[in-house]
Amino acid sequence: MIKQHTIKIFILILSTISPLCAVSNSAEINQSVEYTANIENGKKIYPLCASCHLDNGWGKPDGSFPVIAGQHPAVMLKQMDDIRSRNRENPTMYPFADPQSIGGEQATRDVIAYIATLPPPSKPGTGDGSQLSQGRKIYQQDCQQCHGQNAEGNNDSLYPKLKGQHYAYLLRQLKWIRDGYRRNANPVMLSKIKPLTNRQLDAVADYISHQ
Ligand code: HEC
Ligand code: HEC
Repeated sequence: MIKQHTIKIFILILSTISPLCAVSNSAEINQSVEYTANIENGKKIYPLCASCHLDNGWGKPDGSFPVIAGQHPAVMLKQMDDIRSRNRENPTMYPFADPQSIGGEQATRDVIAYIATLPPPSKPGTGDGSQLSQGRKIYQQDCQQCHGQNAEGNNDSLYPKLKGQHYAYLLRQLKWIRDGYRRNANPVMLSKIKPLTNRQLDAVADYISHQ
């Protein structure tokens, strides 16, 4: 028997969905979409992802593969779109971000819905804890407004959950965002991250990883 499960996803349909349009955050159109996702089917597709993200979706503490377990589904769908449209550099994952290789748009929604049900790691890779108060200050001032008080993110606004993510991955992404390798970064976020030194990025990643 197939278990059906409805996930309501308020997603900003990006121009990236049409391969003809150039990608820019200003091209976002607000639209609400309701998907019906089949979690059982998603579970069957997931082994395609597990070779890198592991069976439990916990990735690796060395930051090579992120935790995806429990991430917000709309956030993941947007990231998949961004990776596919080369708005986010991720050569390792290119072949797996294409709905064709997953089995179509519906299969992509199914596997994302399954991943969203997986529990995140209780102990992700953490920083050395030496700069927590500095990190908290930066987080509260520059990040909390979007990523939330407990770094829980927000599905409807497409703010990723950062809580439970590996420190090494967070730090690498922060440097990539600051240095322009992650072109899909939110422009307001970019303005906050741009002025931060390596040490400050380290402090904030350290703080988040201890949430
Ligand atoms: C060959 C390895 C590999 C496979 C297979 C793979 N991924 Fe990934 N994935 C990665 C890497 C590496 C990253 C992080 C890229 C970076 O550092 O920017 C990533 C990032 C992601 C992200 C963004 C996470 C975030 O926090 O922004 C999502 C969502 C994702 N993968 C989903 C999937 C799904 C769903 C599948 C299976 C259909 C899959 N991946 C298969 C390597 C892989
Ligand atoms: C204006 C809202 C906003 C602010 C402020 C903001 N972010 Fe973000 N952040 C986002 C959005 C939206 C994304 C997803 C961007 C994208 O599409 O890749 C994101 C992505 C990220 C990612 C990548 C997560 C992943 O799973 O790959 C990290 C790490 C991050 N933010 C950390 C921070 C930190 C640290 C700060 C403060 C210094 C900050 N952000 C401030 C909105 C914001």
